[in-house]
Amino acid sequence: MVASKRRLRTGNRKKTFARKQHVGRKISSTSPVHSFQTDVLDHAETEPRAYCHVVPVLQLVSKHFQIKPNKLQIWDPYFCKGTMVKHLADLGFHSVRNVNEDFYKVQQTGVPDHHVLLTNPPYSSDHLERCLTFCVESTKPCILLLPCWVAKKPYFSKLFGCRDNHIFFIASLQRYNYTMPADLVPESCKPSWVGDDGQTSPFQSCWYVYLPPPFKPGIFFENLKCNMAKSGPFDCVLAKRLQSVKWKLKKTRAQGGQGRPEAECHDQEKRKRKKHRQKCERPAVPGTVEFD
Ligand SMILES: C[S@@+](CC[C@H](N)C(=O)[O-])C[C@H]1O[C@@H](n2cnc3c(N)ncnc32)[C@H](O)[C@@H]1O
Repeated sequence: MVASKRRLRTGNRKKTFARKQHVGRKISSTSPVHSFQTDVLDHAETEPRAYCHVVPVLQLVSKHFQIKPNKLQIWDPYFCKGTMVKHLADLGFHSVRNVNEDFYKVQQTGVPDHHVLLTNPPYSSDHLERCLTFCVESTKPCILLLPCWVAKKPYFSKLFGCRDNHIFFIASLQRYNYTMPADLVPESCKPSWVGDDGQTSPFQSCWYVYLPPPFKPGIFFENLKCNMAKSGPFDCVLAKRLQSVKWKLKKTRAQGGQGRPEAECHDQEKRKRKKHRQKCERPAVPGTVEFD
């Protein structure tokens, strides 16, 4: 109800973005027929909790583009059943595109207008490499839900080696669950580790946030850290390096499971105050002039 009211209030550009999406969703309303070749084991939808963890990132990206979060055009180019559109609408993001179209054909014919790409790509074949190649060439922020092992792949260092300071990570204290839809993944194809309800959590995955130039990843990261310290979510950790992700997860779990980014933010402010105090108290050396 609220979602449809908001949809009515949005402008023309949003209409085009949403209309195309409707075409895709019509084809795939109950049992989607994909308009591209698929591997049955790639069909796994992301759980809502994972999207909660990137809300502060999406809010900061909206601020960067000087638009309200509900107008932020979020594009997920990999389509399973489109459930992610509802998950993001529940979080206040109403301009989300995830439709039944071949991402690779779209790359040839023209990508839709978007402010940010957000996806959980398929892992089979060379999809991960193709997805990352698209992202590194993009001028838009890309938020990717990937297994932690992806960062150790040679193709990852080849693509992002010189841009690794443009990436940071958000990882959940509790592993994310993925759902393999029963109508897309027949019982006979389900791997043994998938539950009867289609849920699976086979490895630690985390969000890789890539901010291309002209974004200033350092400033963005510090703002994000402070925002998350104030308002959460507290069941995930934020880190610049994957090694730190592992260390922070371990430390936070050992402390009882609640992420304490507020402590980090306070530590940072304390350090700044101490540095400032030291600077002020430093005895002036006769004959020298200090510049700020
Ligand atoms: C891991 S699922 C994630 C779906 C959705 N992005 C999400 O997060 O819930 C990956 C999906 O990519 C889709 N896919 C595979 N090849 C594709 C292509 N060429 N274009 C668009 N989607 C594709 C598959 O149908 C599969 O369901």
